[in-house]
Amino acid sequence: MQGVTVVDHPLVQHKLTLMRDKTRSTKGFRQLLNEIGMLLAYEVTRDLPLEMTDIETPMAPMKAPVLAGKKLVFAPILRAGVGFLDGMLSLVPSARVAHVGLYRDPKTLVAVEYYFKAPEDLADRVVLVLDPMLATANSAIAAVDRLKEAGAKSIRFVCLLAAPEGIEKFRGHHPEVHVWTAAIDERLNEHGYIIPGLGDAGDRMFGTK
Ligand code: PRP
Ligand code: URA
Repeated sequence: MQGVTVVDHPLVQHKLTLMRDKTRSTKGFRQLLNEIGMLLAYEVTRDLPLEMTDIETPMAPMKAPVLAGKKLVFAPILRAGVGFLDGMLSLVPSARVAHVGLYRDPKTLVAVEYYFKAPEDLADRVVLVLDPMLATANSAIAAVDRLKEAGAKSIRFVCLLAAPEGIEKFRGHHPEVHVWTAAIDERLNEHGYIIPGLGDAGDRMFGTK
């Protein structure tokens, strides 16, 4: 599918299956999301530009590659997006963090903003929007709208599961924002939940239901 990368790494697929299992504990679910976050961060950052810098090893001077430009921004969509954050920060510890607080109205499925705080210089940084679930895409579209309004120009979207309907809608609104996901499931049900999916990611992660 154009504009979408499915991360089919065996470790990601194995861990995702463990997460889907309805008997998985809150602790196990949270730990797996963290671990998959680390693996997804590795894939999503694969093409970041490098520049050469002068260093001296104990043996000789050399030119060696380092990441070019300003530090990355991780932008988790609250709450469930936070589940990716520790894993990603363990791989990119100096990244900045933008918090995007949105909840999906259970009746209308419209995304409602309740918090937003981001670094001021978003325009100069690559922004990775994080949310385990891309269902109707209302939350993802609203988050990217808000980040663009705050200045972001280079945006990538990272999720765990996506519905085909959500991908199509998201691509329609933000065609230049590439999506990375561990799987594309069958469909949405009448309540906007991904089938087979894994249920409500936020509730499973924080043990609120
Ligand atoms: C869930 C999920 C996404 C959103 C996806 O969040 O974490 O943000 O739904 O659905 P959509 O693509 O149809 O917008 P929710 O609103 O339940 O909030 P929570 O993370 O605080 O539980
Ligand atoms: N949000 C979730 O947490 N799960 C879904 O399946 C859809 C939206």
